[in-house]
Amino acid sequence: MKNVGLSPCDPSSFSRPDQVIVTDIFLNLNIQFNSKTLNGHTILSVEKIQEKYNELTLDAFKLKISSIYEVDTKEKLEYQLSDHLEDFGSKLIVQLPKTEANSFKICIEYETSPEASGLQWLSPQATSGKKHPFLFSQFQPTHARSVLPCQDTPSVKQTYKATILAPKDMTVLMSAIKEDSTLVEDNKQSNFNQTVPVPSYLIALAVGSLESRKLGPRSHVWAEKEIIEDCAYEFALTEHQLKTAEEICGPYVWGVYDLLVLPPSFPYGGMENPCLTFVTPTLLAGDRSLANVIAHEIAHSWTGNLVTNKTFEHFWLNEGFTMFVERKIIGKLTSTQMQDFDAYAGISDLEEAISVLGADNPLTNLVVDLRGIHPDEAFSTVPYEKGQTFLRYLESSVGGPEKFEPFLRAYFETFKYKSIETSDFQQFFESYFSTEESIKNIPWQKWLHTPGMPLLIPDYDKSLAVACDALLEKFCKWTGDEICPITAEVTEKLMPEQRIYFLQKLCQSEKQPIHKLKILGDLFDIQKIKNAEIKFHWLKICLKARWEEKIQEVLDWINVVGRMKFVRPLYRELYQWEVSKNRAIENFKANKHQMMHICTISIAKDLKLD
Ligand code: BES
Ligand code: ZN
Repeated sequence: MKNVGLSPCDPSSFSRPDQVIVTDIFLNLNIQFNSKTLNGHTILSVEKIQEKYNELTLDAFKLKISSIYEVDTKEKLEYQLSDHLEDFGSKLIVQLPKTEANSFKICIEYETSPEASGLQWLSPQATSGKKHPFLFSQFQPTHARSVLPCQDTPSVKQTYKATILAPKDMTVLMSAIKEDSTLVEDNKQSNFNQTVPVPSYLIALAVGSLESRKLGPRSHVWAEKEIIEDCAYEFALTEHQLKTAEEICGPYVWGVYDLLVLPPSFPYGGMENPCLTFVTPTLLAGDRSLANVIAHEIAHSWTGNLVTNKTFEHFWLNEGFTMFVERKIIGKLTSTQMQDFDAYAGISDLEEAISVLGADNPLTNLVVDLRGIHPDEAFSTVPYEKGQTFLRYLESSVGGPEKFEPFLRAYFETFKYKSIETSDFQQFFESYFSTEESIKNIPWQKWLHTPGMPLLIPDYDKSLAVACDALLEKFCKWTGDEICPITAEVTEKLMPEQRIYFLQKLCQSEKQPIHKLKILGDLFDIQKIKNAEIKFHWLKICLKARWEEKIQEVLDWINVVGRMKFVRPLYRELYQWEVSKNRAIENFKANKHQMMHICTISIAKDLKLD
């Protein structure tokens, strides 16, 4: 892939915000479930950076544009849509009116494609209720352009309003404050307003048959009625998490913090859409043990949504900071042992990711070069875990949380509503701590720009890990002939986080005989387990052990659950075993049309079908 026509401002966008910049978006769209399209118009408020620039350059992905005009004068504007560049879409250049003015409102009438990469259209069959279809969006990193022509780069932030027309028995939600809605014959028009400027990737939309339950003074959870009570139980601690996040980060500026629990095909664990975090139903463990994902998405209300990476080359500023704050929230709500246990377990994730990518792979740098590489392709746990490790290192360099947390709040205060790159962070850190001798020796260049594992791994508290490590050693040494050295009495005492850690480590160690796994399965009461993380690691171990009966169970699960963190490693495991390889390929071919674009592309790569 050549870097043809992509922007000098952002290698993942065609847009030129250095010339003319979008400051506000109005969206007016009709949801058409039959044709799987959205149609209507968007009004972009734009400003010239300098008088000489007469072109507005936008991103578009398979959009059918019918007309572009200036709102005030109704003057039709000339435009040019470049050829489609795989994954990136097209450059849309609009000629601005030839007047003295510096700001304009431009109306674009258009329709989306049924193949819009940022939308998933579900048939009633793929929902819990089975009666109504469902639509949801996932725009991060670069899929907003498949739903609206925009400057699809996180360096641009704009406010937005929207009016959405959908069948009247369905609920429309967006990443904004919901205003009044009105009935129009068989349809309902819903209005939304986001008054805080956001990057395009944080615009979000969902339409389905939904109910809500109150979780706290500023929160509701939305879901289909079949699971709404489970959701209300699972996420009951949301307000505590929000308050704790505010203690760490400062005031929450978004007003509302709602959750939307999507159908199981949602490709991520969670997505920090402002005012309305999207989450996978695989968080419904029944015991609130996966609520750290909510802490993570709450943390994004500062790290990412207030202070945003300028391009996805600086993605660690979003995700590394978020992991760091997520663990601080967990630490304050549980214990510092748990905070460190999560961070320590994260190092295992990082080791695994780096061994898959290769320790000399430039994509394992903290700051990456995305020229010619799509950010979806570069996605890994590296910016998350290497990023949080770096921040823990910086924190201890300046003397610990008492010194670092005030700095963190000053950082949010200074850069809120802005998009920044790594050097902005570095300069701010260096000037804030300029009187600290200890910061003079920080090897920034090495941390930021060399591949592989972090330079230094902090000395985390391992009290919650040692019990698991001891158990693991016992289990691995056991031949399986004599009586099992691990008793239910011991395993029952393990917390869900420890069970996950144990299984993850077991999966990384040598292949286990099936008869040993059968006993382990009973000890962990695996058939009854609702925790999807436990189920995932268990199934991976079973495939590694070449347990043939488990193949169908894996296929059945990955045909329902779309969360890529689970589906991709399981497909890769199936692919590596001759017995399951072709079944995996056939299964993928039969189901790929029901998957979201990003899943189809990623799994096709994993199965070497691209
Ligand atoms: N913002 C991410 C999800 C994302 C990243 C979507 C890049 C598309 C492109 C979200 O906050 C996230 O990191 N989710 C994790 C949660 C976990 C780290 C607690 C997930 O989905 O597993
Ligand atoms: Zn995140």
